[in-house]
Amino acid sequence: MLLNSEIIGHGHYLPTKILKNSDLADIVDTSDEWIFSRTGIKQRHIVENNEMTSDLAIKASMMAFDSSDLRSKDIDCVIVATTTPDETFPSTASKVQNFLKMENIPAFDIQAVCSGFIYSLQVADSLIKCKKAKKVLVIGAETLSKIVDWKDRRTCVLFGDGAGALILGPTEKRKGVLSTKLYSDGSWHDSLFSDGGPSKNQQVGKIRMNGKDIFKQAVNKLSESTLAALDECNLNINDVNWFIPHQANQRIISSTAKKIGISEDKTISTVKKHANTSAASIPLALSCSIESGIIKKNEILALCAIGGGLTWGSCILKL
Ligand code: UT7
Repeated sequence: MLLNSEIIGHGHYLPTKILKNSDLADIVDTSDEWIFSRTGIKQRHIVENNEMTSDLAIKASMMAFDSSDLRSKDIDCVIVATTTPDETFPSTASKVQNFLKMENIPAFDIQAVCSGFIYSLQVADSLIKCKKAKKVLVIGAETLSKIVDWKDRRTCVLFGDGAGALILGPTEKRKGVLSTKLYSDGSWHDSLFSDGGPSKNQQVGKIRMNGKDIFKQAVNKLSESTLAALDECNLNINDVNWFIPHQANQRIISSTAKKIGISEDKTISTVKKHANTSAASIPLALSCSIESGIIKKNEILALCAIGGGLTWGSCILKL
């Protein structure tokens, strides 16, 4: 019997400090009007100096345990999707594992930038399908505020911090992860990258982006991958209750929804309050929407993301 991976827990965490667009206008030459009209963003949550990605990941995981009957000892694999690990090594996942006292189980990070959570879902689902794991904690967690160039108005207004987590477990029913599609095209490297790294220049680096390049690619790639993921599990866009795209820009979200033929009222958007939290954006939007009762059991969800690499992909879930 082929196993599927159902969602048995969800959680999220946002740092308490909020930076509004008007606060940013004190730092760089920008305005609430420019930021909101170009991106749909009004505010973002920002960590304190002593708060790390693992702290956010741990808090989101604890909420995921509270939402299920599970405890950390029940987990047999931890995956953290992040672009902003606490340290170059070891993985942020191993810090989460240690803090939550999950002993002697595999723990690793996945680096696929904003698509990292979709990549992690495919890996978790594959582990469950081949019976290498029964309960996988999948986290997307980011502290992008630490690698933003606060002097660059083209990027610093776009990003925020946060974390979301899901717990996946095996089921023989047709639910949970129904399909995943992943892609990458490294020829787009220079359009979105960090200008530092251990091997390149022994620096952490800051986010550098050609926003126009990414914008042009995003709508086509997100729609194509979402339709391909639907096709793979024999569904079509009319079967989808909720579209949850990566939360980078309201204009990309709306254009993609229009292109795949789903209405705005079936499209989840948290970009206004969270800004772009990279690998955390989809699990954050998903967990917040489940928690507030917007998304309900047995509904079909279409997730998609695009980010540095370029990497992109989609996942169809039945909650
Ligand atoms: O998560 C990873 C994926 N990333 C994305 O999906 C981001 C995709 N790209 C975008 O969302 C958009 O391209 C941006 C929001 C980044 C930029 O919007 P745009 O409509 O493409 O603006 P632009 O880059 O063409 O800039 C237009 C003008 C420029 O001025 P000039 O050259 O026309 O005089 C910029 O210098 O806006 C200026 N500008 C700003 N003005 C005020 C750029 N940033 C700002 C700012 N405030 N923060």
